[in-house]
Amino acid sequence: MVSRVIPVDPFDLVIFGGTGDLARRKILPGLFRRFCSGQMPDGAQIIGAARSDMDDAGFRAMVGEAIREFGGGRHCEDGTLDAFLEHIGYVTVDARGDGGWHDLKARLRDDKVRAFYFSVGPGLFGDLAERLRGFGLADDESRVVVEKPFGKDLATAKALNATLAQHFDETQIYRIDHYLGKETVQNLMAVRFGNVLFEPLWNAQYVDHIQITVAETVDVGGRGGYYDKSGAMRDMVQNHLMQLLCLIAMEPPARFEPDAVRDEKLKVIRALDPVDYHHIARGQYDADEHQPGYREHVGDPRSKTESFVALKCHISNWRWAGTPFYLRTGKKLRARTSEIAVVFKDAPHSIFGADAGHHRNVLAIRLQPNEGMTLDVTIKEPGPGGMRLVDVPLDMSFAEALGPEVEEVPDAYERLIMDVIRGNQTLFMRGDEVEAAWAWTDPIIEGWQKRGEVPKPYDAGSSGPEDALMLMHRDGRKWREIKA
Ligand code: BG6
Repeated sequence: MVSRVIPVDPFDLVIFGGTGDLARRKILPGLFRRFCSGQMPDGAQIIGAARSDMDDAGFRAMVGEAIREFGGGRHCEDGTLDAFLEHIGYVTVDARGDGGWHDLKARLRDDKVRAFYFSVGPGLFGDLAERLRGFGLADDESRVVVEKPFGKDLATAKALNATLAQHFDETQIYRIDHYLGKETVQNLMAVRFGNVLFEPLWNAQYVDHIQITVAETVDVGGRGGYYDKSGAMRDMVQNHLMQLLCLIAMEPPARFEPDAVRDEKLKVIRALDPVDYHHIARGQYDADEHQPGYREHVGDPRSKTESFVALKCHISNWRWAGTPFYLRTGKKLRARTSEIAVVFKDAPHSIFGADAGHHRNVLAIRLQPNEGMTLDVTIKEPGPGGMRLVDVPLDMSFAEALGPEVEEVPDAYERLIMDVIRGNQTLFMRGDEVEAAWAWTDPIIEGWQKRGEVPKPYDAGSSGPEDALMLMHRDGRKWREIKA
């Protein structure tokens, strides 16, 4: 496989919150890696904009440090980093006042793609949008990029959409869900719609159930303040797991184009049934002798926020009626692993009799780490002694199958930022999609609040609380093992 880098047009990218954590960890190192791969044009300009009083040189030093710390790799040492830093500038702006906007405008060039990245809390989206228009920095061609959390419920998401819509058309707004930028997440679409093999079986007639797991080993660490107001449901399920669910369940779009894809995803979300509260398990990781638990991390000994959630949901449409989807995600679990497993139904009749045992095909798509796919197929156990059957995996690691160039695959942020410059919204969430996802999520969270529900404790390094196991056991099913 030869990696192909498609150049993008020269651009001005302004990162509001350019000195913040996300910019330092993800956005700037991501841009640097695109620079190293040769994708960044000579006419690219990246401007950090924030409240701190700093000049170009000060910001460049900060960016250089961030890149060394968070992902410059070998290129940092060979002069490439210095060449990249020449594309970087900084302007001090006051998001809520008039300061700095004329200076920022003076830096922008008329004939370049213009994008504004709001790497700031949603409370500033309105102020920024208003000033970008008011001071004449943005026009009808400019793009704005906004980060999650996009609201904390349907009402706040609607308000944010309305605020942005006062200043920008939907075609100018790029709402990031970084899961959509992950290589293997896009591979879901390639696997489903590029192969004739799976599609005929991709429905309730053949699929017993689908499991989506996003397990993390990290704790909430320094993000306790944000996380405790959010919980796994808002932080992960409403966005990342929902996007995975959409891609696995949607109808084939007519074309791989932004609205064709997003229309189909929206239909999935709108077809989701409300979730019965008996079909949800919530958990909170406990302290052990070595490490503090969730409540210590967030500094609230009575916190009722979940760091784990598992639930069963149904999609009421012709394709999926009767097939449950089980979703689970949590922090401080046994291993960092994300996968989607499509568990097919038993063969309608076993010609081998009861002794042959119970066998099923399972297609598991590993999103991270060790991206790949396994398909469990039933074969005869070798040797004499009759027809004993055994399930073995056809195992394909994408890295092995595609060769060493696969290491050069851009990470989610790199890809998404380049898509913004290209003007391709396919991998970004549309306003109506986000609202539909909140409309489904809100009653679940309101139910917990109304009932005063307290999440069940679970051991750090486990697979989550007992309730999550029971959720499956009650249905005569079981979760796949969480393993690296
Ligand atoms: C973020 C969440 O959106 O995604 C974090 O806010 C979570 O809590 C992270 O850890 C997981 O992303 P990834 O790419 O590491 O799977």
